[in-house]
Amino acid sequence: MLKKAKAGHYAVGQFNINNLEWTKAILQTAQDLNSPVILGVSEGAGKYMTGYKTVVGMVNGMLEEMNITVPVALHLDHGSYEGCLKCVEAGFSSIMFDGSHYPIDENVEKTKELVKIAHDNNMSIEAEVGSIGGEEDGVIGKGECADPNECKMVADLGIDFLAAGIGNIHGKYPDNWEGLSFETLDAIQQKTGDMPLVLHGGTGIPEDMIKKAIDLGVAKINVNTECQLSFAAATRGYIEAGKDQEGKGFDPRKLLKPGTEAIMATVKEKMELFGSVGKA
Ligand code: 13P
Repeated sequence: MLKKAKAGHYAVGQFNINNLEWTKAILQTAQDLNSPVILGVSEGAGKYMTGYKTVVGMVNGMLEEMNITVPVALHLDHGSYEGCLKCVEAGFSSIMFDGSHYPIDENVEKTKELVKIAHDNNMSIEAEVGSIGGEEDGVIGKGECADPNECKMVADLGIDFLAAGIGNIHGKYPDNWEGLSFETLDAIQQKTGDMPLVLHGGTGIPEDMIKKAIDLGVAKINVNTECQLSFAAATRGYIEAGKDQEGKGFDPRKLLKPGTEAIMATVKEKMELFGSVGKA
């Protein structure tokens, strides 16, 4: 999926899921737009949904019941070593091992072991070099720029795609954010060649920077916070308008509908920006 994206100069969106509404909204939008898609599951979200087996059951059920025919990957986001093993067992199609907080030798060692396990199980694997800034599931990173030589070292371990820090941050970008380091991205792409690169922290990156990043080899872009913000705003709008108190407006299927539709609109906007529409 990502090799094709890199060769075709577009990026596939990874949208993180939290529950049934999120998953349904993302899958339906991908199908409507004939776009490949990656469902991201953080360890925290996996726990929230009661465990990875529940996630696999829900996603596989939806693929069948909703007649989803576009390519879909179910991917562990920022996994620990143990989390990766659990997702292999649960039947995910892809994992990310985030060893960026380890010294590089330990990151290399652990990534190497997981590459073998993932490939023996016909799964793809993403690795990370240079921690992504911001907070995710309580882990705070400071938005480093990865060392291109370390990126090459990890890319050569046989991973399928590489997340490299280029000044990107999870969550909202602060007003004094300096932007993406295209110099770093360019140096990484030159060292790693065909390797599809991953841009984390997709929320709030200006359109021109997204396009330039895709030109420089980014083939997967992760978006999480932006779907949460649009879901929350639409849900707040429904309640503030008193709709939950009109007739059967309290029915969860009605209450959660505006938020679900808002996620669909956000995902559509991102797929159009990333150029993945019609690429299934
Ligand atoms: P945002 O929450 O900033 O969109 O980042 C998502 C992400 O990178 C998940 O790994």
